[in-house]
Amino acid sequence: MAKKIQSIKGFYDVEPERQILWRVFESKILSILDQYNYQEIGLPIVESTNLFVSGVGMLTDIVEKEMYSWEDPLNKDALTLRPEGTAGCVRAVNERSLTYNGPIKLFYRGPMFRHENVQKGRQRQFHQVGVEAFGYNDAACDAEQILLLIRLWRNLGLNNIELQLNSVGDHQDREHYRSKLIDYLERNKAILDSDAIRRLHDNPLRILDSKNPKMQDMLDGAPKLIDFISNDARIHFEALCSILDEHEVIYTINDRLVRGLDYYNRTVYEFITNELGSQGTIAGGGRYDYLVEKLGGSSTPACGFAIGIERIILLLESKAITHAIRPDIYIVNLGKEARNKACKIAELLRDNNHKVSVNMEGASFKSQMKKADKSNAKLAFIIGDNEIEKKSIKIKLLREDGSQDDILESNILSYLNEIKIG
Ligand code: HAM
Repeated sequence: MAKKIQSIKGFYDVEPERQILWRVFESKILSILDQYNYQEIGLPIVESTNLFVSGVGMLTDIVEKEMYSWEDPLNKDALTLRPEGTAGCVRAVNERSLTYNGPIKLFYRGPMFRHENVQKGRQRQFHQVGVEAFGYNDAACDAEQILLLIRLWRNLGLNNIELQLNSVGDHQDREHYRSKLIDYLERNKAILDSDAIRRLHDNPLRILDSKNPKMQDMLDGAPKLIDFISNDARIHFEALCSILDEHEVIYTINDRLVRGLDYYNRTVYEFITNELGSQGTIAGGGRYDYLVEKLGGSSTPACGFAIGIERIILLLESKAITHAIRPDIYIVNLGKEARNKACKIAELLRDNNHKVSVNMEGASFKSQMKKADKSNAKLAFIIGDNEIEKKSIKIKLLREDGSQDDILESNILSYLNEIKIG
């Protein structure tokens, strides 16, 4: 036998039982996005490497070590499989002048790629739904996005999800803070691990995100970014908090939350569950008022978030939230003529919006009935020589008392209407 070819580490198939949960997630998020008036934009999976270097930041983990990048052998273009969606969305907004007629609210969905260490809830190909609003300065827009996510958790039946919130101020505030932080970390150099020492001068704010238990006390004592933010950034943050308070949203202000992408200013937040181990962040986002301009557009305030779909699916699975897609009708048929008739009737039923499965294995009556039962269909239609001769169908109510009826072919639709199937 030929050797089976395996999938690549970190790149997964989604089996049918799990894919059903994806559909549940998708239908809920899509209807909520409609309610909040976000429009879908389709974006390519491959972009210029340069987009992410400029957009996400040269010194981020993503750009430093996680991108799938290569040189196109045909034209030498430097290309990358998108590690996230914000930079591509901004590129599209600029390229197509999508804010020409005023602010716009967009969302996208699809796979993202990061070469990370694989573990539960962390893949190399994963999927996001991302939401980006362009042209909105007001904290009401940040708040509305947070409320949208809370509505999603509620509709999916997910609870115990913590919202952590912070303001990272504006760029000039961060520069000022950065030098104060470096001074403090220099004074505590003996406690820093090798990762922190590597980041000390390039990206000291990321050290604040470290989970190393040996550094926690020292980091707790570090100067706080929130104490260095400008008056305007503070007013914006207070406005956001007060809208959330008005909606009785519970949140924690985590003054060490900075997030791993360089484009943020002012608002940053994450929704975290403790039910998935160390990969508990199910959505994250914030404001990025400088990115549109940085990528060649005109100055446009913006904010957004992305949801990690695989992590949501893991949560739905752990809560045994299951949804089966089952046929309304399973057609058992014996013999060639019966099969042809089964296929014809199935098409007629589908024309009338029923979900129908036709047995095509030609097994015994008993085995076909077992399959009908297992399919969870409400009704079995049974067609054999007798039924062909009488131009009728035997119908068995599988989920009720198992009673049977003989119905003339010409009366099937009215019969189904009467018993309100579908
Ligand atoms: P992010 O925090 O890098 O933000 O990713 C958002 C979410 O994607 C995470 O909270 C997590 O649920 C999921 N995720 C990230 N990496 C992986 C992985 N390796 N495996 C499984 N799930 C993962 C962004 O991507 C920003 N673009 C969000 C944003 C949009 N900010 C403003 N607008």
